[in-house]
Amino acid sequence: MKITNYGHACWLIEVVGKKLLFDPFISPNELASHIDVNSIDADYILITHGHEDHVADVESIARRTGAKLISNFEIINWFAAKGIDNGHPMNIGGKWDFDFGTVTYFTAQHSSVMPDGASGGNPGSFLVQTKEGNFYHAGDTGLMMDMQLIPSLMKLDFALLPIGDNFTMGINEAVIASEFIACDNIIAMHYDTFGYIVVDKKIAKEAFENKDKKLTFVKLGETITI
Ligand code: NI
Ligand code: MN
Repeated sequence: MKITNYGHACWLIEVVGKKLLFDPFISPNELASHIDVNSIDADYILITHGHEDHVADVESIARRTGAKLISNFEIINWFAAKGIDNGHPMNIGGKWDFDFGTVTYFTAQHSSVMPDGASGGNPGSFLVQTKEGNFYHAGDTGLMMDMQLIPSLMKLDFALLPIGDNFTMGINEAVIASEFIACDNIIAMHYDTFGYIVVDKKIAKEAFENKDKKLTFVKLGETITI
């Protein structure tokens, strides 16, 4: 699996020959000013919730690439009303088999409203199972007991967890989350973009090391392979 960081909660994950883009928020992100949003290719765009910092570039990328949207029912309908009508609607706890693998739209403890104030349904997260590996994009969430269910559902190869605090979990809660989900390979997201969520990367890495977990910071625009 190839994992590219496009900043904040936006990741391109290439798996089984398909390009899965999560929560595109690039053109408004000052930290991502070196990324050309028009150069990003996608087969699918997965959207955890309706906040601007997760949907800002969905429309432009979907129109250019024809990527299929995967999100909750309300978000899929919101984009369908704009003419992006090839989306796949889901809701909490449900799963569906796509050509790359199985997606479960899982819970997240957060809020969800579209940029125009329309309902964004319930916020969620994604569990993705493929023949090349399984992963979790936690979206925006606080620490929650639901995470303890995940090891009963699947063994994760890696997880993208928010660590920026204030709007989501912070570092210490993310360490506990990594124990709840039984995953030792954590990739940090949702930090540094705004003043409220700036983190000390050394402190964060040490917090995970103290529990024999690995926290990876991927530089914005860079790709790692798992
Ligand atoms: Ni949010
Ligand atoms: Mn957010």
